Amino acid sequence: AAAEKGGYEHFMMKEICEQPEALLKTISPRIKNGRIVLDDLKLTRADIEKISRVYIVACGTSYHVGAVAKYAFEKLLRMPIETDVASEFRYRDPILDDKTLVIIISQSGETADTLAALREARRQGARTLAIVNVVGSTIANEADDVLYTWAGPEIAVASTKAYSTQLAVIYLIALYMARELGTLTEQELEEYTKALEKLPELAEAALSGRETIQYFASQYFNAKDMYFIGRNVDYAASLEASLKLKEISYIHSEAYTGGELKHGPISLIEEGTLVIALCTCGRLFGKMAANIREVKARGAVVLGLCTEEFAGEMKGVADWQFCVPKVPDFMLPSMSILPLQLFAYYVASMKGCDIDKPRNLAKSVTVE
Ligand code: G6P
Repeated sequence: AAAEKGGYEHFMMKEICEQPEALLKTISPRIKNGRIVLDDLKLTRADIEKISRVYIVACGTSYHVGAVAKYAFEKLLRMPIETDVASEFRYRDPILDDKTLVIIISQSGETADTLAALREARRQGARTLAIVNVVGSTIANEADDVLYTWAGPEIAVASTKAYSTQLAVIYLIALYMARELGTLTEQELEEYTKALEKLPELAEAALSGRETIQYFASQYFNAKDMYFIGRNVDYAASLEASLKLKEISYIHSEAYTGGELKHGPISLIEEGTLVIALCTCGRLFGKMAANIREVKARGAVVLGLCTEEFAGEMKGVADWQFCVPKVPDFMLPSMSILPLQLFAYYVASMKGCDIDKPRNLAKSVTVE
C-alpha cells in the first residue's frame, strides 16, 4: 500500500501533488497551435448555435465545479446558465427541450442522482455532455457527448485532482463554445487559451510555499468552526474549500458570500473566530477588504488569500496572508483551491483523522 501511495502518507496528499501533471494531461492534448481542439466532441457549430440555455448538474465536489462554471460560462458566452445539485434537479421538473444543453459532471460516472439527472435530461430531449474521470462508466456511456478528465485514478474520498481537472475541462468547453459563437474577440480567445496552457505550471507554483500553510494549520487545527468568505468565483471556490475542511477534519465550516455576511453569519463572529477570506478577484478586492475589516472589528482572526499583485494591500488588512499566481478571473478557483486543499489536509492530519477514508462518507454514492 505504501508503494501505491508513491511515498506519500496518504492518497489525498499524493493526489493533491499530482494536480499539475493531471492538468497537463487534461489540457495539453486539447490545445494545438494555440487553438482549442475537442476532437472527441460530437457537438457541431450548428448544435452550439441552437443552444439557448445551459444547466450544469452534479453532486458534491463536482457540483462545486458547476458553481465556478456558472460564472465562467456567463462571462464567456453571455448565456443564461443554471447550476443545480443532481438530487434537486431531477425532482424539480426542470425546463428542458432540444435547445437545452445539460452538462453533467462526475468523477466516478456512477453517482446515482447524477445518473438519474442525465437520464431525465435525455428523456426530455435535451442535449447532454458529460465530464467524467472514469473511462467507460455509466454516465460516460449514456451521455450524448463525453469529455474525459485525464486525472488518473482518484482514491482518497475527498476529491482534489478530479476537481481541478473538471475545472480545466469547463474552461476548455466554455472557450470552445465562445469561439464557435463568436462571443469573444480573437485577442481575448488567444489570451485565455494561453492562460489555460499555463495552468499546470502555475498550479505547481500555487502548491509551493506549503510550509506556510502547514504552520497556519498548526495554529488553528483545534478550532470548533471556521468561515470561508468570497465573492464571485471566490465564493464558488469557498464552497469547495469549506467542503474539503468538513469532510476530512470534521470541523464545522460554512461558506458565505462577502455581501451576505451582514444578513446573518456576522452574528456568529466572536473573539478568535477564524475566517478565511478569498480575495483573488482583483476587481472585488476592495469589497472583500471591507468585509475583512467588519469581521475583524468583531474579533475574527483572518487569513486573506489573494493574487500576488494585492499582497501589499492585504498586509494592512488581514492577520495572515497567502498569495497565489494571477490568472484570468474565471480561472482563479484553479489557483485558490490548492492552498486550501493543503490546509484541510494538514488540519485533519494534526487532528489525527482518517484522511483517506473519513467517517460516514463514500467515494462513490451509487444509491439515492
Ligand atoms: C461523493 C464523494 C465526493 C464526490 C461526490 C460526487 O460524495 O465523496 O468526493 O464529489 O460523491 O461524485 P462524482 O463521482 O459524481 O463526482
